[in-house]
Amino acid sequence: MPSVTAPHSVILGTGAYAPDKILTNGELERLVDTSDAWITERTGIRERRIAGDDQASSDMALHAAQRALQAAGLTAKDLDMIIVGTVTPDLPMPACAAILQQKLGAGPIPSFDISAACAGFIYAMSIADQFIRSGAQKHVLIVGVELLSRILNWKDRTTCVLFGDGAGAAVLGPAKEDGSGILSTKLYTDSSLVGSLCIPGGGSKEPLTAESLANARGKVHMAGQDIFKVAVKNLTSASRSALEQAELPASAVRWVVPHQANLRIIAQVAARLDIPLERFVLNIERYGNTSSASIPIALDEGLRDGRIQKGDTVLMCALGAGVSWGSALVRV
Ligand code: ACO
Repeated sequence: MPSVTAPHSVILGTGAYAPDKILTNGELERLVDTSDAWITERTGIRERRIAGDDQASSDMALHAAQRALQAAGLTAKDLDMIIVGTVTPDLPMPACAAILQQKLGAGPIPSFDISAACAGFIYAMSIADQFIRSGAQKHVLIVGVELLSRILNWKDRTTCVLFGDGAGAAVLGPAKEDGSGILSTKLYTDSSLVGSLCIPGGGSKEPLTAESLANARGKVHMAGQDIFKVAVKNLTSASRSALEQAELPASAVRWVVPHQANLRIIAQVAARLDIPLERFVLNIERYGNTSSASIPIALDEGLRDGRIQKGDTVLMCALGAGVSWGSALVRV
């Protein structure tokens, strides 16, 4: 039964996982016509993680989810729902969340994937928040996981240097104290740039053939500059909207945990929001762009190393293919 007074939902625990294998910019210099200097100056990325041949997205998600459950003091049997943000599910169907449910040993709870690319974790958080506030569900596991190395064209220097593999997770539940929890979330999609960041082949529109496979139609294609411009604009406006909805000024934000796509995008958003870059949790240097996993990996890092303290107001924002983007303001 829905509760009479809608509770805030709160982050009960987080977890993250990154594969052991490190791919440095120097190693990429031997694969494509690029340089450590170009990648570092244009993106802020120095290295990224690459999943093992025997790993699928659900395997990485499992590690992150188990760590988040442990941090929350819960077991898989306590979960009421699983939402996975991913564009690299193990299989086209069923959902990665269903496979994760099986690996976790969770009960027969609703489990589904969200396809919102880099904004997948923010989408998952907002959806989980609605279910918890309505009283329909109590404990919701949200995961961002990507095995992007499998969908990159390793001959295309404009994309292959940017991305990495990893997973991050959070368990959300009803808040016990007033004031803590998810204060606001905002979600958006603008379809005018659908073609600027996509995998053209492999879906129902263009099934893969031997020829299209050879032409990398099943891999990520991106018009980087188009995305760059809307990223700065939309991440700034979504962040402002989340603050406005919570009736808080930017100065109330203790930490920003942004999607880690490009350090220059983050720096421009920081300047527009007038929040010093020192208050951003950054790990793009070590992981590159892990799409939906990037925010929960950075959030987990900030919480575990003590930068993010109980009571801090944390702003998250992400933008990716769609283009879909969003923001979340959370008091941890
Ligand atoms: N190494 C060396 N040179 C390169 C490389 C490379 N890896 N990649 C591109 N170049 C070259 C280009 O060919 C171009 O050469 P030219 O001037 O001779 O034509 C030159 O560098 C400049 O290229 P730009 O595309 O103008 O470079 P830019 O400064 O825009 O940086 C980048 C490119 C890093 C992709 C940037 O545009 C970006 O970060 N875009 C946004 C990415 C993003 O946020 N994506 C959304 C999330 S991803 C998701 O949803 C899955």
